[in-house]
Amino acid sequence: MARVAIVTGGTRGIGRAICEALSADGLTVVANYGGNDAKAKRFSDETGMPAYKWDVGDHAACLTGCAKVADEIGPVDVVVNNAGITRDGTLHKMSFDDWNEVMRINLGGCFNMAKACFPGMRDRGWGRIVNIGSINGQAGQYGQVNYAAAKSGIHGFTKALAQEGARSGITVNAIAPGYIDTDMVAAVPEPVLEKIIAKIPVGRLGRAQEIARGVSFLCSEDGGFVTGSTMSINGGQHMY
Ligand code: CAA
Repeated sequence: MARVAIVTGGTRGIGRAICEALSADGLTVVANYGGNDAKAKRFSDETGMPAYKWDVGDHAACLTGCAKVADEIGPVDVVVNNAGITRDGTLHKMSFDDWNEVMRINLGGCFNMAKACFPGMRDRGWGRIVNIGSINGQAGQYGQVNYAAAKSGIHGFTKALAQEGARSGITVNAIAPGYIDTDMVAAVPEPVLEKIIAKIPVGRLGRAQEIARGVSFLCSEDGGFVTGSTMSINGGQHMY
C-alpha cells in the first residue's frame, strides 16, 4: 500500500510543488491548508489530491485533523511541515501579536504535527519528517526577528527530534530554502527584493520545484541514512 504523506500549507507555492513531487513518487498525498478555500479547491480540482483545513498553530486542531486523515486515508508515514507566515517589520515596529503568530504557526506547527504523527510512526517503525526552515533562520534577516527565530528554532527542533526517531526508523530533516519565486517573496518590497537577488550567486530566485526535489529525496527509501541534516537550497546565497 502506498505511504501516506501530509504536507502542511500544501495547496500553493512550495507546498503545492512538494505535494506534486511526492505524488509523482507514488505516495498518497494530502494537503493541509489554513485559510484560502478558493486556492484549496483549485488545488484539489487540478491535482485530484484532497485538502484538509486546520490551523497548524492550534494544537488540538492538529491532533483532530491528523486523526481524521488517518481514518479517511490511512496512517500517516510522512509529514512535511511547510506551513509558514511572515509578519515582517523591524523590532521597534513589531507588535507582540506579530511575534507570537509567527512563532505559533511556523514553529508551534512543527511541534503540533509531530505530536500528532510521531507516535504512530514509532509504532510502525518507519517515518519521514521534513521541516521547511529558511536561509533567514540560518543567517538572520533585517526586519524578521520573529521569522528568523522561528525558522532557527525549526533547525534545532529537527536535530533534537532526529535523535529521538533514529532507532525507530524515523528520519527528521530540514530544508533551508533561500528566496523562492512564491507569493511570500513577491510580498517583499521591490527595491528590497532587487538588492537581495543581486546577492544570490546563481543570479535568480529559486523555483518551488527545486525545493520539492530535495523533499522528495529526504522522504524516499534511499534517504534512510540521512537524518538531522539541513539541506540548503539557496542559489549560493548563504553557504552554511
Ligand atoms: N541592513 C541594514 N539596514 C537596512 C536593511 C538591511 N538589510 N534593510 C533596510 N535597512 C535600513 C534602510 O536603509 C532604512 O534606513 P534609512 O532610514 O537610514 O534609509 C531603514 O533600515 C528602514 O528600512 P525600511 O524603509 O525598509 O523600513 P520599513 O519599516 O519600511 O520596512 C522591512 C522594513 C519591512 C523589514 C522591509 O525592509 C522589508 O520588507 N525587508 C525584507 C525582509 C525580508 O527579506 N523578508 C523575507 C520575506 S520572504 C521569506 O521570509 C521567505 C524565506 O524564507 C527566505
